[in-house]
Amino acid sequence: RPAPLVEVHDGPDELATAIAGELLNRISDSQAAGNIPDIGLTGGSIARAVHREVARLADDSGVDWGAVRFFFGDERFVPAADPERNVGQARDDLLDVVGARQVFTAPASDEVADLEESASQYAATVQEQISGELEVLMLGIGPDGHVASLFPDHPALAVIGTEATGVSDSPKPPPERVTLTFDTLNRAQCVWFLVSGEGKAEAVARALAETGSIEETPARGVHGRLETVWFLDREAASRL
Ligand code: 6PG
Repeated sequence: RPAPLVEVHDGPDELATAIAGELLNRISDSQAAGNIPDIGLTGGSIARAVHREVARLADDSGVDWGAVRFFFGDERFVPAADPERNVGQARDDLLDVVGARQVFTAPASDEVADLEESASQYAATVQEQISGELEVLMLGIGPDGHVASLFPDHPALAVIGTEATGVSDSPKPPPERVTLTFDTLNRAQCVWFLVSGEGKAEAVARALAETGSIEETPARGVHGRLETVWFLDREAASRL
């Protein structure tokens, strides 16, 4: 696996524009090669800015939005209409705007009996829908170094043999979530970390340091097979 690349942009707006442009390029290149790209989306505030920017630039991209499959690195286990749902936010910001038709996420808390059922259904969906690898997996990072809903020193870090697992005690609200496991997060050609702000600078430095544990900084455990890019603004890069 190649070493992580770091790309620093002035501020959150320039960062979102750069990521959105790169994502549109990757999707249209993939379609030009005859593929239906599998793209991993993330929750979080910088992701929302990226999604809105993709929607703004979409018309000139030539992308066929019916021929892209969207997945989520994690999803909040709340009712379907809850504004905290990652898929709801992504639909408002991008997916419904461009008419995406193949969108997959973990079922909501009013769609299945319990968290475990949501996790096992999403695991089955990911297994059957992602034929090979995610072409691009976008991820945020928490101030504690969490990625998706894999938090430091949490038992979910050790879950293997399934694509997705439930987390019922997330330190970041809401408490119940379904997250892809490390195995699945690492089945991506390209992993892009989207990071903005001073509050993440320490976590970014820990994630990119020569040494450090995955238990302590879970973002250290995710790498793309072909590339890992840290898209940062100046503040997020300030401890590098
Ligand atoms: C979630 C996200 C989570 C997020 C990071 C960064 O569902 O909460 O998947 O992993 O990406 O916490 O979030 P911000 O970009 O909002 O800081």
